[in-house]
Amino acid sequence: MGNFQIALLPGDGVGPEVVRQAVKVLEAVGRRFGHTFRFREAPVGGAALEQTDNPLPPETLRLCQSSDAVLLGAVGGPKWDDLPSGRRPEKALLGLRKELRLFANLRPARVRPLLVDVSPLKRPYVESVDLVVVRELTGGIYFGTPRGWHQEGALRSAFNTLVYNNLEVERIARKAFELARLRRKKVTSVDKANILECSQLWRKVVTEVSRDYQDVTLNHIYIDNCVMQLMARPSQFDVILADNMFGDILSDAAAILTGSIGMLPSASLGGKVGLYEPVHGSAPDIAGQDLANPIATIESASLMLAHSFGLHREAAAVETAVDVILGSNYRTMDILQEGCTRVGTAEMGDLIARKMETS
Ligand code: IPM
Ligand code: MG
Repeated sequence: MGNFQIALLPGDGVGPEVVRQAVKVLEAVGRRFGHTFRFREAPVGGAALEQTDNPLPPETLRLCQSSDAVLLGAVGGPKWDDLPSGRRPEKALLGLRKELRLFANLRPARVRPLLVDVSPLKRPYVESVDLVVVRELTGGIYFGTPRGWHQEGALRSAFNTLVYNNLEVERIARKAFELARLRRKKVTSVDKANILECSQLWRKVVTEVSRDYQDVTLNHIYIDNCVMQLMARPSQFDVILADNMFGDILSDAAAILTGSIGMLPSASLGGKVGLYEPVHGSAPDIAGQDLANPIATIESASLMLAHSFGLHREAAAVETAVDVILGSNYRTMDILQEGCTRVGTAEMGDLIARKMETS
């Protein structure tokens, strides 16, 4: 039976309340399957800024590095919006990704048959959507230098650098192809190669890598067209491979297909320790009111079980428990439908955790 140490970084806004629900579910997994999960908590983002003046304190980073996996809630909020970019809560996320070498971000978006009508898109469009955005996470314009501000007289400018090398593109492309092999064997690589040199390199390298994966079909698509296709014909996609910024944009767009961003989990992989977090942000407008949907975080914990601990049966059991509870018509506010019972964050967590143990 396994013994796993998990670093908990609840963070800001709804972060702490959704992480609490995922912990309940993991504890239930432990009881049912005989594993021991040990949790150690550390501040990150705004919560850390309040205590230490640093959004990613060194002790928090050390805790993550010495754990088997990290579960993060969310960071950021209006209180810290005016800070310079180096001290904003979001900086902690980028620091964690870089320090833990998490170059591969997987963001699955699967439309559950039960929730088809929650999506603002019409039923036939979203019915069979099952895709994963594979986002490059430690390069591109998020990290490129030089970056900064420049002022000459009254003229103010700001600049960023979009840069990738072939090794960075190759390793994320391999992740996408490997994943496609376990799915429907289709990779759609996203770029803006009609304009950007960086995208031209991206397209070249992805094409070279594809020769090692003859059983996987590769298509290239421009980012603008990809966003349109995601809304117009989303079921055509299997694995979407994108750079850091395009992947950020596409994963929010994909959330619309599933009905609520409160349903989207993510896994960040590549280094020794994986990081798992919901795709949604800190949602300060609903924080502390027991309104947030904890399913994205619970499903992130399920990704942790599978990817970091190799506990595939346990991960599947979490998925089933979520399906059963949704099938019993329990809904948080964001996915509420007629005839369903509305529950809060904590009750949704309790229902899923209890189902885990009893099914
Ligand atoms: C995400 C978020 C982050 C990002 C922000 C909060 C830094 O939008 O994880 O998608 O842009 O990567
Ligand atoms: Mg984002």
